[in-house]
Amino acid sequence: MILDELKCTQVQVIDEINNAKTMKDIGEIKGKVFGKNGVLTSLSRGMKDVSAEERPKVGALINEVRNAIEKALAEKEQEVENAELALKLEKEKIDITEPAQGVKKGALHPIPSVIDRLCDICVGLGFSVVEGPEVESDYYNFEAMNIPKNHPSRDMQDTFFINDNILLRSQTSAVQAREMEVKKPPFKIICPGKTYRNDSDSTHSPVFHQLEGLVIDENVSMADLKSMLTIIMKRLYGEDTEIRFRPSFFPFTEPSIEVDVSCPTCHGKGCSLCKGTGMLELLGAGIVNPKVLEMSGIDSKKYRGFAFGFGLDRTAMILNSIGNIRYLYKNDKRFLEQMK
Ligand code: DAH
Repeated sequence: MILDELKCTQVQVIDEINNAKTMKDIGEIKGKVFGKNGVLTSLSRGMKDVSAEERPKVGALINEVRNAIEKALAEKEQEVENAELALKLEKEKIDITEPAQGVKKGALHPIPSVIDRLCDICVGLGFSVVEGPEVESDYYNFEAMNIPKNHPSRDMQDTFFINDNILLRSQTSAVQAREMEVKKPPFKIICPGKTYRNDSDSTHSPVFHQLEGLVIDENVSMADLKSMLTIIMKRLYGEDTEIRFRPSFFPFTEPSIEVDVSCPTCHGKGCSLCKGTGMLELLGAGIVNPKVLEMSGIDSKKYRGFAFGFGLDRTAMILNSIGNIRYLYKNDKRFLEQMK
């Protein structure tokens, strides 16, 4: 009986092995034959009921069947492995005769690109680049800049307050006092970075960018400030750019000026970018108010300083003829691709 069963099992299992297509099929057959309740395992277990004289014959047949099945399995495994590998190679085949798609070039966003250009120009003039916190104290943003609490000049900057003493900096001028407290004059620094005001229209965004410049030394004058700004403007907008200085007011500079340049789009003739005036208002600057120097621990009898503050969004818009500040913050790829 058991001998017939064994032969039958061999034929059935080998037939199944021949029909197997995948490694998974082979795994299932192995389980069905050699597993805990597999056919061959059960038949081997039946040996204990076989009579003593039949036992060697049955034992020999079990081994023969096991060997035959194992051999068939090994051969099938090899065959399936080869077939799977061939399929994978076929799928991953690269057609080297296909035309190339070309390399897509990225480009800097207009704001970091302007920051890079201005930093290069200023570093070339001996400035070092520093950074300051965007979440700033009322002291550095206002008080140390000679803008006391409740002073009307605070109205010029609609500020985001976090609490009575902490705010999102409304001007990079806040780094002036921080640097004056820790640096020994003479020094020349610039600080580019994000600034925040509650303002939003086609030329204002609640998040915008400024670059602050500060020079502290003995005997610096308005003439030094004007010549420094002339060099920076000409390097940024071109040698033929006209520069105009106008008197202005800032609490932290005395005297204060504002600086205009001839419109690079119409070269002074008047167009929509400069609203027909031929000139563009670009930055505020001035001689650092001695009160500001003293508050930060610098001897105003020995040292003087000048400072300037660029609006970088406006600079990026002018350099790239961008009509609305919102384009700078939408991250629309179609717009950014034109900035290459
Ligand atoms: N902080 C000023 C503003 O945001 C700009 C400015 C004006 C900066 C004069 C300066 C300066 O350093 O001297 O409107």
